Amino acid sequence: MQDPFATRDPMIAPSILSADFSKLKAEIDDVLQHDADFLHLDVMDGHFVPNISFGPAIIAGARRSADCYLDAHLMISEPLRYAPAIVKAGANSITFHVEAVDDPVAVAREIRKLGCHVGITLRPATPVEAIVPALDEVDLVLIMSVVPGFSGQKFMPEVLPKAREVKTRLRADQRLEIDGGINADTIVAARDAGVDWFVVASAVFDKPDRAAAIAELRSKL
Ligand code: DX5
Ligand code: ZN
Repeated sequence: MQDPFATRDPMIAPSILSADFSKLKAEIDDVLQHDADFLHLDVMDGHFVPNISFGPAIIAGARRSADCYLDAHLMISEPLRYAPAIVKAGANSITFHVEAVDDPVAVAREIRKLGCHVGITLRPATPVEAIVPALDEVDLVLIMSVVPGFSGQKFMPEVLPKAREVKTRLRADQRLEIDGGINADTIVAARDAGVDWFVVASAVFDKPDRAAAIAELRSKL
């Protein structure tokens, strides 16, 4: 398995939220065979966000389908309650929302005890200051560039100053990830803001030719 922390290379991470779940393994194979770096898994509870996606059972299915790094993004109100099952199912990283917890430092430390990488993320409206106290405790920061809940939304360029600000505060071993509305146009501004990892759902899975879609994204990096 390729560890995305092992290099400084930019990474393209398709989110299976926009995949066809009637043939999930074929969808996963299609993107991984066509140059995707790893998979992004959007867990939603219908409470923290107004949508329900999937949980540990589907993540375990993704694990059995693919020998790649699995990056779990928990859009849920109780990340610590479900993180152990999600790691057990095969996730390699757990990213939690700062808005969902009272003590992000403690939550990051608890997640790290599970033996996975730890990420923190914030909604577009949440200021960077909310995550600053926890930055030393995490491996990655995920900048949300749409209001979390659904794929296929429009990129919010107003989050780019937050990406730039976070990047200046990260150590060389930490990574900056962006999620929401990334396509062959918007990825350029995200790259210029210092983003390392790019989550893409609809701009890959809604295209019939995933090889061409990923190649076009990569050509911009
Ligand atoms: C949004 C999710 C994203 C989403 C991205 O709530 O966290 O990962 O699937 O979808 P696109 O790339 O279509 O904006
Ligand atoms: Zn996501």
